Amino acid sequence: MNPIDSRANDAHEHDAEWIPVLAEDALGEGEVVGVEAHGEEIAVYCVQGELHATSDLCTHGFARMSEGFLEGCEIECPIHQGRFDVRTGEPTCGPVTEPLRRHAVRREDGRIWIRLDQGAG
Ligand code: FES
Repeated sequence: MNPIDSRANDAHEHDAEWIPVLAEDALGEGEVVGVEAHGEEIAVYCVQGELHATSDLCTHGFARMSEGFLEGCEIECPIHQGRFDVRTGEPTCGPVTEPLRRHAVRREDGRIWIRLDQGAG
């Protein structure tokens, strides 16, 4: 088996799943931006140079994480100030109790790409 061919095939399959959502320079350090991919509302975060992506919608009520306050690795909901760790989606401060769904995210060719969580929907 040729490992290079195998990688090329994997990359080709994954290309169909990765969706470009932003220019890389549209998201600065310590910022969160809301985007849409295949009808899913997604929040993309840049924390200490690392990208993270979660559902943009709070698990407690109708609020967008992209309109919240990002402090370190935590995003604070703009409605009731519940908090989540953007690296894991886990709640860190009530009233939220359910985690945010996470999505894969990467930089390539000057853009930010999302791959929807396979359990999404
Ligand atoms: S809507 Fe987000 S904490 Fe209530």
